Amino acid sequence: MTSATRLPDPSQAQGPRHVAVIMDGNGRWAKARGMPRTLGHRAGVNALKRTVEAAPDFGIECLTVFGFSTENWRRPVAEVSDLMGLVKLYVQTDLDRLAREGVRVRVLGRRTGLPADIAEIVERAESKTAHNSRFLLQVAFNYGGQADLIDAARRFAEEVAAGRAAPQDLDEARFGSLLSTAGGPPLDLVVRTSGERRLSNFLLWEAAYAELVFQDVLWPDYGPEALAEAVAEYRSRERRFGGVAAGPHDALAAG
Ligand code: IPE
Ligand code: IPE
Ligand code: MG
Repeated sequence: MTSATRLPDPSQAQGPRHVAVIMDGNGRWAKARGMPRTLGHRAGVNALKRTVEAAPDFGIECLTVFGFSTENWRRPVAEVSDLMGLVKLYVQTDLDRLAREGVRVRVLGRRTGLPADIAEIVERAESKTAHNSRFLLQVAFNYGGQADLIDAARRFAEEVAAGRAAPQDLDEARFGSLLSTAGGPPLDLVVRTSGERRLSNFLLWEAAYAELVFQDVLWPDYGPEALAEAVAEYRSRERRFGGVAAGPHDALAAG
């Protein structure tokens, strides 16, 4: 492993420090209750509040949640504007509390294409909490892993074209520093709710060595109990990062 790769210390027994959540199943939750999808998304915002509140109790330092993907524009116009409205609502009702509680909010994803009022809210949430360091909440909004990789590649290509970098300067650390997650802790765990087992274009680079946990719970039902289960599952895993397990084999080899 080169010193350039930012991987966590495999010896750490506890953790996770950084958890990413694909908050899925709002629509199915609403459908099961004979309610419109909107109400599922609304209930999903409450689940997000519960989860953000509970995360520090598990030693989690950073939570990255998938709020809207670059592919979610394919949904009906009404649902798209509904999801945009919810971000507004979340920020309007929770920003003061988050700021007070030491949470730094960071929004990942492309700003171009966002309605002006949403872009403004996103910027306000970031600037109002920029000085906080107790907990990092990253909201992936208009985010796609592939789009983020392309944006990073373009930025590096521009550096090369301007004569400020050479192609051989590019390594994992440099590339990682061009992604929207730059500067945050390495990703330890990706959780997806609702029983779907795929990444749906979330954190493609960052998830290289993250543990994946899939839970059947629908996102609006998520909270401290479900998070505790995901953390327990994570702690039962052995992370090797391509190396070999520390254990009896080492003792044999040494002895
Ligand atoms: C996740 O719930 C919320 C977002 C994509 C923003 P869905 O809306 O995808 O719910 P399902 O998958 O249809 O149940
Ligand atoms: C992923 O969920 C995006 C978010 C949770 C914001 P989707 O529901 O959009 O993903 P697919 O379409 O099932 O892959
Ligand atoms: Mg879904």
